[in-house]
Amino acid sequence: MSALHRDLLTTDGQGAVPVRFVGPDGATDAGAGGWAGANGFKGKPGQILPVPDGQGGFAAILVGTGETFDPLSARALAAGLPPGLYRLEAEPEAARKAALAFLLGAYVFDRYKARPDRDGVRLVAPEGLDVEAALRIAAACALAREMIDTPAADMGPLQIETIAREIAEAAGAAIAVTTGDALLDETYPAVHAVGRAAAPHRAPRVIEIGWNLDRADLPLVALVGKGVVFDSGGLDIKAAAGMRNMKKDMGGAAHALALGRLVMQAELPVRLVVLVAAVENAISADAFRPGDILNSRKGLTIEIGNTDAEGRLILADILTRAGEHAPDLTLDFATLTGAARVALGPELPPLYTDDDALAADLLEAGRAVGDPLWRMPLWAGYRAALETEIADVRNDSAAWAQAGSVTAALFLQKFAPTTGSWAHMDIFAWNPRARPGWPEGGEAQALRACYAMLKARYPGS
Ligand code: BES
Ligand code: MN
Ligand code: ZN
Repeated sequence: MSALHRDLLTTDGQGAVPVRFVGPDGATDAGAGGWAGANGFKGKPGQILPVPDGQGGFAAILVGTGETFDPLSARALAAGLPPGLYRLEAEPEAARKAALAFLLGAYVFDRYKARPDRDGVRLVAPEGLDVEAALRIAAACALAREMIDTPAADMGPLQIETIAREIAEAAGAAIAVTTGDALLDETYPAVHAVGRAAAPHRAPRVIEIGWNLDRADLPLVALVGKGVVFDSGGLDIKAAAGMRNMKKDMGGAAHALALGRLVMQAELPVRLVVLVAAVENAISADAFRPGDILNSRKGLTIEIGNTDAEGRLILADILTRAGEHAPDLTLDFATLTGAARVALGPELPPLYTDDDALAADLLEAGRAVGDPLWRMPLWAGYRAALETEIADVRNDSAAWAQAGSVTAALFLQKFAPTTGSWAHMDIFAWNPRARPGWPEGGEAQALRACYAMLKARYPGS
């Protein structure tokens, strides 16, 4: 996996070209005379206009912010500027946010094709910026995005395991991986059932990283992720349009691993468990079937109404496993339902938790760092939609309840740890349209919000 270039940020401001944030109102008098108007610069989000200095260089760069200034508009800079050294013209707080946004915008997926190199665009680190911390956060988002963007053929269960091993080793953390039929001996029956149809070299696995676990004085945080490396739908096969982007169905695992790396790099004062189930929801003679009744690690039997509701099955087992550590806080990430996108669209991930204080902290952190979440209800009235006569629970909710993201969250709640608090994020993990700074493709969602929340709750030394 590629790394983020450290020299994107520099401390030496000699000769840096100022970058000026300009909204629609200021577009005509942004210190550029008639240049802005003559070049059709209207201050639209991500719009970029270099202003010549008359000597072959730039006097300034104008960046459109839209109606209200949002530091995230700096995501457009890395891809939109000619190589050079730049400095941000903004209040220190906004400049720091814009600098991180600049780093987020520097991500480019170039694993299979040479793309325009962005390393030539460098930024003077704004006053008070913790450069190392900003680079780590941007690198975490880039890791998640690159894992999501990488096609399923090259991001199978083994590749996810390899990345997890690298993360654990770099942090001096313990890692345990349970693969294939060993999942039955180790009591992960639902993970095994969902993943057993894959080719042998893509066998299902449960990956568990443990860090600081001997520090019983510290609170224990569990990060849990859905790692379906490709979701064909199984025997309830998806139609072509629905299957097209299902390489991203391991986005939850990518988020849990990237956030876990961040927590360990920052040495937050917590014990940490990262739990990921990496499986391929494939079709073969051995695939699990509609009507099958699976066992789960918790001992609840699950009737399969639809093999395409596979994410909640693997999460059931690893949420149960998380609970065995008696966590104080459990966060899970999953591209769990298409219904989440119907409810809130691709940019606003639903957040589910019964803990009002945790919800408030996460929403506030999300607002502060520009990584929004929207709280949705664990509406008890829909629990009945998960009932079936012949098993403890069913994996596809009854049609009458309709709210598919809610009923999926209610399913997870049956398996979530009962110690501490639990929050579930039904992420989309994808930008469906390209705009400046947000290329079409994998996206980190709720990752920076969760990290900001954790950092605020566990500030450390
Ligand atoms: N991975 C999908 C959910 C998904 C689809 C996320 C599209 C993002 C974009 C999940 O495994 C799935 O197929 N869910 C089904 C559940 C249904 C069969 C009960 C869905 O949402 O349609
Ligand atoms: Mn599915
Ligand atoms: Zn899925």
